[in-house]
Amino acid sequence: MQPLDLINRYYAGHNQARRILIAHSRRVAGLAVAVAERVGQRARVDREFVEQASMLHDIGMLQTDTPKLGCHGEQPYITHGIIGAELLRNEGLPRHALVCERHIGVGLSIEDIETQGLPLPLRDMCPQSIEEEIVAYADLFFSKTKPGQRAPEMVRELLAKYGQHKVSIFDAWHDRFTH
Ligand SMILES: [Fe+2]
Repeated sequence: MQPLDLINRYYAGHNQARRILIAHSRRVAGLAVAVAERVGQRARVDREFVEQASMLHDIGMLQTDTPKLGCHGEQPYITHGIIGAELLRNEGLPRHALVCERHIGVGLSIEDIETQGLPLPLRDMCPQSIEEEIVAYADLFFSKTKPGQRAPEMVRELLAKYGQHKVSIFDAWHDRFTH
C-alpha cells in the first residue's frame, strides 16, 4: 500500500490541500518513525505501519470547512479523524483507520466528547496501541500552517487548554518516547 497513491487519488484537483497534507504528514512521519525506532529497541513496534499511518492520519481533512488548509468541505474540522477513518475502512485499511480516529490531541474520551459537545459519535477515541500513541504524539509537534517543530513546552501549553490530564498523558508519552 502506497499512502501517496491514496492521497493523490482523493486529493485530485485539490492541489493546495494536497500540498499542505503531504508536507505536514511527512514531518509527522519523520518524527514518528524516529520514535518507533527508538522504542522498537525495547518493545515490538510496527515501524512500517507507523510510517504509513502517519502519512494517512489527516486524510479526512478535505471534507472539512477549513479554507486556510485549502479544504472547502462542509464538516467541522474536528471530524477529520472520523471522516478519514471511514475513508480508510472503505479502502480495506481498518488498522490505519483507527489511527485517524484516535489522533486528535492525546485522544478524546467519551467524557471529552460529551462535555465539550463535540460533533462526534460517543465512543472512546483514545490511542490504544503503541503505534497509535506514537502517531498522535508526533502529530502534536507540527502545525499544518506554520513551519518548524514545536517545543515540548509549547505542546504542553496547547494541551493545557483542555485540562491538566491531557498534559499528563503527553508528559508520560514524552518520557517513554525520548528515553
Ligand atoms: Fe496531523
